[in-house]
Amino acid sequence: MAVRSRRSMVPITEIEHSAFCKTEDNLPSKPLAEEMSVNVRWQQIPNEYLHYTADELDQRIGEARAKLGKTVTILGHHYQREEVIKYADFQGDSFLLSREAASRPEADYIIFCGVHFMAETACILAAPHQKVILPNITAGCSMADMAPMEDVDDAWADLEDVLGPGGIIPVTYMNSIAGIKALCGRNGGTVCTSSNAKKALEWAFEQGERVLFLPDQHLGRNTALELGVPLDEMVVWNPFRQMGGNTPEQLRKAKMVLWQGHCSVHTRFTVSQIDAARALHLDINIIVHPECPMETVQAADMVGSTEFIREKVNSGAPGSKWGIGTEVSLVNRLAINNPDKTVFCLDPVTCPCSTMYRVHPAYVLWMLEGLLEGKVNNEITVPEDIQRDSKIALERMLSLK
Ligand code: 13P
Ligand code: SF4
Repeated sequence: MAVRSRRSMVPITEIEHSAFCKTEDNLPSKPLAEEMSVNVRWQQIPNEYLHYTADELDQRIGEARAKLGKTVTILGHHYQREEVIKYADFQGDSFLLSREAASRPEADYIIFCGVHFMAETACILAAPHQKVILPNITAGCSMADMAPMEDVDDAWADLEDVLGPGGIIPVTYMNSIAGIKALCGRNGGTVCTSSNAKKALEWAFEQGERVLFLPDQHLGRNTALELGVPLDEMVVWNPFRQMGGNTPEQLRKAKMVLWQGHCSVHTRFTVSQIDAARALHLDINIIVHPECPMETVQAADMVGSTEFIREKVNSGAPGSKWGIGTEVSLVNRLAINNPDKTVFCLDPVTCPCSTMYRVHPAYVLWMLEGLLEGKVNNEITVPEDIQRDSKIALERMLSLK
């Protein structure tokens, strides 16, 4: 059995989530120096970029992009702030962005406005001549941080000891480090996103009788319930306890072993927020992301990825009402783009994903002006063996029917 003596700790990104919580509902970008003054641990940047106003940044980004032409493509996740997403050549959820990264070989540089695991995935799937750039290298994901490689390797060794080789199929959510995707590739598993988790789990249960799902317990639980796996056949793996806090017998009886990770943004959405929205608005549609806790998902009318949420609200009938359980930058954008509908975030406190929020337009400008000078700042790379094995798992995901 792997010996574990690591201290439980709260990732710094999780603490930072509260730094930008407000009660008013929009968050216009301020000069970077002002945003950094609330004591965040963002990447240091050359001094000149700290003080540009939003208009100055806009003008310089436009000029730099025009000079770089088609050598650069910018991909943006739906949670990016307005002042950044406006520059994206393509915006989407994690699944669409990974497909897009694999199908734009004409650009030498992919600037990924999103978080680290997304840029890492783009690097694995992009053509060998392409370089993937993350504008702010500290833009991670607190959920991904909850599954460090050494803890996952220990857990895998323990599970193989108890269940034997092939006794459990590893499935990792896209929101994880490349090393975990590689472990899945090497051990007959796959990757999933919030838009294909059901298909991925169905596929995994065709390969074996149990699944280890990392790192989001909520997405794993919500999806397994949808497939009819009862709660008493699911156990949680706590990486700070021996054997994840389970007995060998419990592990043998389980169909789903859920890594004890969560998203600090989506666990803020509650059933009482849904009840309050329903009390205030008749005929409201409640739509939430599957990273929300089980009770919240069960009380909602619809559940799906950021792209699913965007599509449902945009195609909703004029006058329809939408209470949304996902990150506030996307919700605010949907509200602005759908003035004929009532669109609001279920959480009355405006809390952006603090790591997505780290991509300030000043970082985007720094990347573009660097390229104009022949410098590639913040290139994301993945060691060759990890790249090879994680690609196996990602390609399994991309081929799911
Ligand atoms: P989507 O794949 O739904 O865009 O989700 C990504 C994410 O990080 C949600 O928190
Ligand atoms: Fe990670 Fe949650 Fe932010 Fe998504 S919203 S990037 S899961 S911390």
